[in-house]
Amino acid sequence: MEQQRGSFTGKLGFVLAAAGSAVGLGNLWRFPYLAAKYGGGIFLLVYLILAVSFGFALMITEIALGRKTRLSAIGAYEALNRKFRFLGYLSCVVPFIITPYYCVIGGWVLKYLTVFVTNQVSEAAADDFFTNFITQPGAPVVFFLIYVLLGVVVVRFGVEKGIEKASRIMMPILIVMTVFIAIFSMMQPGAMEGVKYYLMPDFSRFNATTVLAAMGQLFYSMSLAMGIMITYGSYMKKEANLEQSVRQIELFDTGIAFMAGLMIIPAVFAFSGGSEEALGKGPSLMFITLPKVFDSMKFGTVVGAVFFLLVLFAALTSSISLTETLVSIVSDKFGWTRKKSCAVILIFLVAVGIPVSLGFGVWSFIAPFGMSLLDFFDFISNSVLMPIVAFLTCVFVGYVVKAKAIIEEVEINGAFKFKKFYTVMIKYIAPVCLVAILIFAIMEAMGVITV
Ligand code: TRP
Repeated sequence: MEQQRGSFTGKLGFVLAAAGSAVGLGNLWRFPYLAAKYGGGIFLLVYLILAVSFGFALMITEIALGRKTRLSAIGAYEALNRKFRFLGYLSCVVPFIITPYYCVIGGWVLKYLTVFVTNQVSEAAADDFFTNFITQPGAPVVFFLIYVLLGVVVVRFGVEKGIEKASRIMMPILIVMTVFIAIFSMMQPGAMEGVKYYLMPDFSRFNATTVLAAMGQLFYSMSLAMGIMITYGSYMKKEANLEQSVRQIELFDTGIAFMAGLMIIPAVFAFSGGSEEALGKGPSLMFITLPKVFDSMKFGTVVGAVFFLLVLFAALTSSISLTETLVSIVSDKFGWTRKKSCAVILIFLVAVGIPVSLGFGVWSFIAPFGMSLLDFFDFISNSVLMPIVAFLTCVFVGYVVKAKAIIEEVEINGAFKFKKFYTVMIKYIAPVCLVAILIFAIMEAMGVITV
């Protein structure tokens, strides 16, 4: 792959490819449950502020690093400074933690697709349907295995292009459907309370945990702080406008996350009341709430089936590109063939994914820090490793390669409008805030300060 590094074709090619990989379960599943849990409006506000400031600076940096060096993460950091080679490795650890549990959720989506296709909508709308499902020892593991296998087979035979093409048709339909479902949700009796909760920030709920959660979500959803955007940048043409592309990707990704929140949060109020408990469901929120929405809808079975099919595609494009990343990391590192690398990654995903899946049922005694295994992996990657990678990247760019080098790369095609803002962000604001947030959140978690 290194020798014949291709480029994205067309003006929109890069943006579509990057956005296609960025949009996935992060937007549809993770964003709404975090927003519901962390105070609604205040989470949304913090997220938006972080996206235009911090997310913007970090995405510019990563894409520029890739385009400048024409290398993926490990090589890119090393090429610019040998001492920072470890940062390339560190960022590669993140997709290894994320992918297995991403595929577990993918399996849940697959299950819900079959539920709707077989017309079990009212069963699925029952309160404990989801819990009964994930606590079983067999079914969730089987769906997970099918999902993983699907992804690895695609990567093994290099047919990602086909999936990508399909998802280019599916993605716009998904967006239209999300808007439609959101409008339907908002029209349910009692839903307006939820709209208020989601759109009006309650500043008394502002604290470091909210900021940390919003930031982790930003990294996750935009595939930042894990070397991915460096790889994407390495395929970007010099003629493409980098700053504009970043803005478009961010707008697209954030727009879909926002709509997903509007689809799910009002429904939580309409169907389950807006209690702390209903809002704090975490990873299961989408799976508990949406079937209730579809159940109360005319033709809900069909709408639900189509919807989960589209979500499956959005999830697949993301997990395939995650799997592809893992495969290329091991094949580059160890010089293995594609076949061998795929086999090793498959074994790895299965070995880690099964305990994650069983962690909700028979193996729920494995609960590091009182979290389910899925929540634990999610926490370690999004709230610990990614902020650390992001911090080191800021230090690396701000003080070692210097912001100027990135600015020059951006300016190859046209002015960099937010140049000054970028420099201040990457050198001072971002690193200081990152450290502060991490320290605060750790102190909160240890109960040193109470909120
Ligand atoms: N951003 C993706 C989502 O929102 C998840 C993701 C994280 C991802 N890292 C990735 C997707 C790398 C593709 C490649 O679901």
